[in-house]
Amino acid sequence: MSLKIEELSEGDLEDFITILSNAYPDIKIETPEDRKRHKERIIASLKSNARVFGAFREGKLVGGARYHDFKMNFYGKVIDVCGLGMVAVDLLHKKEKICKEIVLHFIEYTRNRAFLGMLYPFRPDFYYKMGFGFGTRMEQYRIKANSMPMRKKENIRFLSKEDVSYLLYCYNTFAQNRHGMLIRNTASFGHLFEDIQNRIVGHFDKDNEDKLDAYCVFSFKPTMPSSMPDTLFQNDIFVKELVYNNPNSLSQILTFLATQSDQVNNIIINTQDEDFYHLFPDPRNGSNRVIPSVYHETNTAGVGIMYRVVDIPILINSLFSKIDYEGRLKLKLTLTDSFYPKNSGTYYIYFSDCKGSISDDREPDIELVTDISPFSSLVMGSLSLRSLLRLGLGTLSDDKYLPTLMRIFSKGEKPICMTPF
Ligand SMILES: CC(C)(COP(=O)(O)OP(=O)(O)OC[C@H]1O[C@@H](n2cnc3c(N)ncnc32)[C@H](O)[C@@H]1OP(=O)(O)O)[C@@H](O)C(=O)NCCC(=O)NCCS
Repeated sequence: MSLKIEELSEGDLEDFITILSNAYPDIKIETPEDRKRHKERIIASLKSNARVFGAFREGKLVGGARYHDFKMNFYGKVIDVCGLGMVAVDLLHKKEKICKEIVLHFIEYTRNRAFLGMLYPFRPDFYYKMGFGFGTRMEQYRIKANSMPMRKKENIRFLSKEDVSYLLYCYNTFAQNRHGMLIRNTASFGHLFEDIQNRIVGHFDKDNEDKLDAYCVFSFKPTMPSSMPDTLFQNDIFVKELVYNNPNSLSQILTFLATQSDQVNNIIINTQDEDFYHLFPDPRNGSNRVIPSVYHETNTAGVGIMYRVVDIPILINSLFSKIDYEGRLKLKLTLTDSFYPKNSGTYYIYFSDCKGSISDDREPDIELVTDISPFSSLVMGSLSLRSLLRLGLGTLSDDKYLPTLMRIFSKGEKPICMTPF
């Protein structure tokens, strides 16, 4: 039975919300008020940068997803990327390859706009098989509030909805300096204010009181494990978003957090900064677990954001438009992509004069063979070429060229992404 995928209008959303309510029981779309709230949120996203697509079989909606058109900092250049979210299939039609068709449709949609797609997976292996590769992991630290670094506190204040323009400026300044970050608009801050648990504090430049140079979104949480249900005054601070544009503003936000230590046990911070633990003299997470021989447990980590290259020639032109190698090299790139065979095949890339492009020359110096999932991670910088080869996720015909290829592929930055979708 054929499947037709088409864009849903506002009027078609009711059936999609019914599918969503069964696909995501955790988000609790149960009452008419829940449905109304979700519908309003979806409609708001349609007015910003999103579209909802539905999969129809014999005229009946059997699944759908939301696609986002984003702008991303890709190694200093702002590019278009597409995000896939809210994938949901009618419980009566699961395991009928409806999701597969939606993902293929998303890939085609993305190819018309960009060379890169991204998503947050409900299960990493499900999307790895579909050619998505892992991005940078999210690390969660749990630092004792009384061991946070503290300085003289200045120019910190609470921020509210009225301060969105400051937040936007601060976030986008950070995003323009960090590979992988999605550029935001005013509407993309809506989710921060929707959650009534959220508090936002910011630090303003001491010479310019209109310039927000760091902020932190946080909420209070009972300290876990809550051994005594009646215990009062045992809270942690959970930092959901920490953005800073210089070391001084970071240290001001940390000082603000440190000054809560009389009422707060731990500061829990999510970050994709792999060097973050260097900030704290005691980065241990309180578990007292020691990994042999003597490694004190510091944090937990999770895989999340995944990336997929959908158009190899366009990617090659963008990725290699400026490289740190002035010599000449001819690379044969052989890629497998079983999910989207249009990508599979051999690409000849000629590097010279600090750039690389697709070439007709079929006499390469070297061949790199790999699969689209690790290749997507390589392209994003979340996996280095050296690690890809060391772990056996690809092969290189001659190790002699590895240092050169490392220079060509490595931009020295892992991607970070702070935008949920
Ligand atoms: C997760 C969910 C979307 C899956 O939907 P589904 O329509 O049942 O999934 P599909 O039938 O399309 O399964 C994927 C198919 O793609 C196939 N596939 C994956 N990679 C492939 C590849 N490289 N080549 C060929 N086929 C591939 C899989 O083998 C699978 O088919 P199979 O079951 O015959 O093995 C659905 O269960 C759901 O709505 N869950 C709840 C909501 C949710 O978690 N959404 C995801 C949020 S990110």
